[in-house]
Amino acid sequence: NKYSRITGTGSFLPPKRVTNAELAAQLAATGVETSDEWIVERTGIRARHFAEPEVSTSDLGVQAARNALEAAGRKPSDVDLIIVATSTPDMVFPSSATILQNKLGIAGCAAFDVQAVCSGFVYALTVADAMVRTGSAKCALVIGAEVFSRILDFGDRTTCVLFGDGAGAVVLEASDTPGILASDLHADGKHVEILCVPGTVFGGKVHGNPLLRMDGQAVFKLAVGVLEEAARATLAKAGKTEADIDWLIPHQANIRIMQGTAKKLKLPMDKLVVTVDQHGNTSAASIPLALDVAVRSGKVRKGDTLMLEGVGGGFTWGAVLLDF
Ligand code: ACO
Repeated sequence: NKYSRITGTGSFLPPKRVTNAELAAQLAATGVETSDEWIVERTGIRARHFAEPEVSTSDLGVQAARNALEAAGRKPSDVDLIIVATSTPDMVFPSSATILQNKLGIAGCAAFDVQAVCSGFVYALTVADAMVRTGSAKCALVIGAEVFSRILDFGDRTTCVLFGDGAGAVVLEASDTPGILASDLHADGKHVEILCVPGTVFGGKVHGNPLLRMDGQAVFKLAVGVLEEAARATLAKAGKTEADIDWLIPHQANIRIMQGTAKKLKLPMDKLVVTVDQHGNTSAASIPLALDVAVRSGKVRKGDTLMLEGVGGGFTWGAVLLDF
């Protein structure tokens, strides 16, 4: 088989949904001031889901994986590769992918995590595509799953209103027809400081701040430019143009970044898949979550050409162009 192709999508959100107004009321009780109006106007976010304390990344991911397998008409025993994109793993080690594999009730296949923060899913999908095309795998599960609520500083209104928890998954199979057409990945480590969780485990204790820190304006400025570049590079590799894109499915961080990217690519806003309003920023989970919502709502159909785009901490960014 020359290509890899997505044969099923799935997602899962923890049941607890928190609206902006509910979050604002909770924050007000600790002296942190925000409002539904501010959050909607600056970000487009209206609500997010938060996992209960006992629920882990692999718990969310395994539900999304089961839903994707069902959509693909596959069983867990058909899977020969599991890649989990996450920055909020269950443990320091082993990987969330191995824990998820066991929860799926299978053993033996390769399983590992990819850490590229909000670009994690486009990174993981690119790795899986390469492994399928070279014959290392025939039926891969590629999952983005996060519990970002665990690393939020609820005393910092500039970040805690932006993120949510969730998971999305795809089944990627060997195919004689494409499939994934092209991808383009990048990183620039000099931007560590603008978006990071600097703390680490050392000598049996957490050293440094274990909560998310972000310079929102610096991230914003970098994001729109690199997303346009990655999209154009991916189209060029595939011999396609903007006009070939049926749906733009960007990382769901901020509606203004997403609209800015669509505008630069001269795409009408009705080709943009938007779920940030309902999910907030779920980091590596946001793209497969948005894809699954668009598939199940009947927006994205078989044969459509999709541009997936991620940007996040690292700084990392990238894009994948595919025929669904
Ligand atoms: N509620 C009310 N007021 C707030 C809040 C809040 N939640 N947060 C900040 N403010 C205030 C600020 O204190 C500031 O007040 P001041 O003018 O009195 O100082 C004012 O609002 C404006 O703040 P800015 O930071 O200038 O707001 P901006 O319009 O830049 O929006 C935002 C901030 C939403 C964070 C924006 O910069 C953004 O979306 N950046 C990109 C973030 C992003 O995409 N991150 C994800 C990358 S993915 C990953 O890897 C995790």
